Amino acid sequence: MLLLLMLILVSHAWSVKPQQPPQNIFILAGQSNMAGRGGVTNNTQTNTLVWDGIIPPQCQSNPSILRLSAKLKWVQAHEPLHADIDFNKTNGVGPGMPFSNAVLTKDPNFGVIGLVPCAIGGTNISEWKKGSFLYDQTVGRTQAALQGGGVIRALIWYQGESDTVTREDAELYKQRSEKIFVDLRSDLQIPMLPIIRVALASGLGPYIDIVREAQLQNDLLNVQTVDAKGLPLEPDVLHLTTPSQVRLGEMMADAILQSMLSTNKTGPSYSNAPAKFSNFVSYSWMISLLLCSLCLILNF
Ligand SMILES: *[C@@H]1O[C@H](CO)[C@@H](O)[C@H](O)[C@H]1NC(C)=O
Ligand SMILES: *[C@@H]1O[C@H](CO)[C@@H](O)[C@H](O)[C@H]1NC(C)=O
Ligand SMILES: *[C@@H]1O[C@H](CO)[C@@H](O)[C@H](O)[C@H]1NC(C)=O
Ligand SMILES: *[C@@H]1O[C@H](CO)[C@@H](O)[C@H](O)[C@H]1NC(C)=O
Repeated sequence: MLLLLMLILVSHAWSVKPQQPPQNIFILAGQSNMAGRGGVTNNTQTNTLVWDGIIPPQCQSNPSILRLSAKLKWVQAHEPLHADIDFNKTNGVGPGMPFSNAVLTKDPNFGVIGLVPCAIGGTNISEWKKGSFLYDQTVGRTQAALQGGGVIRALIWYQGESDTVTREDAELYKQRSEKIFVDLRSDLQIPMLPIIRVALASGLGPYIDIVREAQLQNDLLNVQTVDAKGLPLEPDVLHLTTPSQVRLGEMMADAILQSMLSTNKTGPSYSNAPAKFSNFVSYSWMISLLLCSLCLILNF
């Protein structure tokens, strides 16, 4: 009888092992350097763009890094992260995987990461405004990502290369990008959603510095900038190489851990407490049952 009780308890312990939806969700949005073009080069023989398939250790898959697929399912993430999102282009290594691996290396208790890729190559800031396909897709995918629980830790935004072609677009970049951030926060109902934006390393036109100026000067609260300037580029002089994406991902990880550490003190978001608390409750419940059975054994 007791043996049976023990068996039931043990099997219960196995069955309550939680299946893990991601606790820490990050939205990845922007254009090609966010989608990832590291290792993508022009094969001059076939005149096509091909990815070299090289995945450095910092970009490897890990059961604790998931991605929301185009079909809105959580799957284990692997390079190229945006293959089914930016599907008309040849995708390579981007910042999402090295970012996630760096976060988990620096904070092994961080919990499962869920990435929501939304970036599309070649898109200018106007194509992201509220009501556009890209905007709606980002909101819709984020809402789908939250169905299993978890918290949106940040929007990571790397975009603006396409807004460097005319002076007018470059000068309007600050206002246009801030409007999108404000609208997204409002439509996602996360008024203080942390945003990490990347200051450009390259651009399609001559007005890179005007866009960078907008990116480096943050008037909105809870927006941080990580500067990609100087990171080595592919021969196309537009896209970050794979090692550059690894470096950028590490910089993003430092930025997010730093900001979560500082918001932790003052209150919101960074806490795995609820998950730990429920584990604690169920484990302490099982332990007391085990102790009771032991008492019974001793009484016999
Ligand atoms: C590849 O390079 C050739 C020669 O430089 C150029 O004409 C062509 O447009 C490039 N193709 C792609 C897909 O970028
Ligand atoms: C892919 O290309 C098709 C045809 O040009 C276009 O309608 C569609 O919007 C593109 N989608 C993406 C995600 O680039
Ligand atoms: C942005 O890109 C779209 C699509 O290529 C184009 O129609 C539009 O004119 C561009 N807008 C600006 C402000 O550059
Ligand atoms: C933030 O606070 C939670 C709950 O107090 C704690 O578990 C977690 O380790 C803290 N995180 C950091 C980075 O200090």
